[in-house]
Parts: sequence; C-alpha cells; structure tokens
Amino acid sequence: MAVEIDLSGRVALVTGGSRGLGRADALALARAGADVAIADIQLESDESGDADRYGALAQAARAQGIVYTEATVDEIRALGRHALALKCDVTDRGQVDAAVAAVADELGRVDILVNNAGTLDHVAQLGDQSPELWERDLRVNLTGAFNCAQAVWEGMRARGWGRVVNMASVAGTLGGFGQASYSTTKAGLIGLTRTLALEGGRSGITCNAIVPGIIGTEAFGFGNAAMNERMIRRTAFRRPGQPEDVANAIVFLCSDLASYITGVALNVSGGIELFTF
Ligand SMILES: NC(=O)c1ccc[n+]([C@@H]2O[C@H](COP(=O)([O-])OP(=O)(O)OC[C@H]3O[C@@H](n4cnc5c(N)ncnc54)[C@H](O)[C@@H]3O)[C@@H](O)[C@H]2O)c1
Repeated sequence: MAVEIDLSGRVALVTGGSRGLGRADALALARAGADVAIADIQLESDESGDADRYGALAQAARAQGIVYTEATVDEIRALGRHALALKCDVTDRGQVDAAVAAVADELGRVDILVNNAGTLDHVAQLGDQSPELWERDLRVNLTGAFNCAQAVWEGMRARGWGRVVNMASVAGTLGGFGQASYSTTKAGLIGLTRTLALEGGRSGITCNAIVPGIIGTEAFGFGNAAMNERMIRRTAFRRPGQPEDVANAIVFLCSDLASYITGVALNVSGGIELFTF
C-alpha cells in the first residue's frame, strides 16, 4: 500500500521563512499541496531598514542579500499553490493578528502553524549574556510562538482540525554552552507544546515540537566555526542535517498520517543527543 502525504486544501502559516528552515518548511508544505503564507521581519522589497534593529544576524542577512521571503512565495506560486508574504514581527501581537487576518482574507484560514521564527545570534557565557538580548530572545522565541498560537487557536478549534509545530532545539533539551537565553526559550517551547497538545486534543488539534540538532542553514554558517565543528563531532552522523530533514518531519506531523501524534518533541538531530565517544 502506498503511503501518501496530501495537504491539498490546507493553509499553512510559517513564521521566520525568509531563509533557512522556515523557507524549506514553506516549500515542503507547498510541495505536499498546502497553500502557504510566510510571515517574517524581512522582505526583499522592504527598504525601511527596520530589520536592522533585530540584531546582528538580521543585519548580516540584509547586507548579504540572504532574504528570500518574496522569492519563496514566488516559488510556491510556481508550484500552483496560493501563497502570501507578510512583513510581521511575531513579538507584536497587533502585527500577528493583522497577519492572521490577512491570511484568512487571502487564503481562507490557518490550518497549520509552524512557529519557526527565532533568534540565533546571542552567544556568550552567562557573565557576558546581554540583558537586552535575553529579553529579545524570550520575546521572539517564546512570546512570538504564544502570540501566533493564540491568534490561530479559536479558528482551529471551531473547525475541529489544526496542526501547530514549534521549533525547539537540542539546546533546549541538552543545554547550550554560551546559550543561556536561547536554550531557556527552546526548553520553554517544549512546555508550551505539551500544554497546547493537552488543550487541543479534544478539538482535533495536534501540537508537536521539532528538536533540531545542527542543521546547515545560513544562520549556522554565521556561527562560531570551532563551536560548529565540536557540535558536528558529537553528532552520531558526523555531519550537519539539511533543512529538508526538518521540513520532511514537519510535513509528516502536519498530515493526517500523524493524527494520533501529539505533545512529542521529535529529535531531528543526527543523534547529537546520544552518548558518543
Ligand atoms: N539551524 C540550526 O541548526 C537550528 C538548530 C536548532 C533549532 N533551530 C531553530 O530553527 C529555527 C530556524 O532556524 P534557522 O537556522 O533557519 O535560522 P535563521 O536565523 O536563518 O531564521 C530565522 C528566521 O526568523 C526570522 N525572525 C527573526 N525574528 C523575527 C521576528 N521577531 N518576527 C518574525 N520573524 C523573525 C528571521 O528573519 C529569519 O527569517 C529557529 O527557531 C532556530 O532556533 C535551528
């Protein structure tokens, strides 16, 4: 018997899809049949410079032209799906509500939410962690996911079907050296995931977390080379994963094949959490 994943008729909202994992998730969901909206602080056509205040990675991405939000939407449309690029800061509840309303207007509703937007550029041991970046990381990684989930929740409940996927990290399950704020937010996302799984269970909504290890995105490339090398060495596969490894897991979790799976924190990590020597 062939096993098929068919998301046609579903509408997905992916946050933080200007590059990296979010972009790969959006494309994979579209290839599986879904219409897709991408919400990000960075759009190619946005010349306001707003994104520069979001930190070093956003500035570097803009300076180096690594912003593909609208290009990804064009790719999705070329697949024959409907798609939408939205400028949205997930920390701002008003912008999130406006983005969800725009998706409802243009694409009908939100059936699938992928809380992928995240900050990866705050690396310092505890004494040198920046209080401002600590607050930013909590706001983007945790409050942003809460904002988006709350904004789509009642619609999913009313329709009796929904999928929420939160992007955690092995930094949240194992800890991350020099990543106090980041690992704290990623651990917190697993708590949010399990709570939404419990609360959504009677309404046909599943909520799961992906726990990526080291994935070769642009953000990984911006990281500390020695640290990256150490993380690859402790990965059982001895190589970084590809964005598609994460995207494939998300497509599965968003399909009806995964309708009895909820509250899971799924490692997509090449075995980095396994004891290796
Ligand atoms: N790459 C990895 O190895 C890895 C490992 C574990 C977890 N993750 C998680 O996966 C997700 C994506 O990682 P990535 O490597 O693609 O990183 P990335 O920095 O390339 O992507 C993050 C995206 O989020 C967007 N964003 C940042 N702040 C935002 C805000 N306030 N509102 C809306 N969008 C915002 C950025 O513009 C960018 O498009 C993140 O949540 C990250 O923590 C990545």
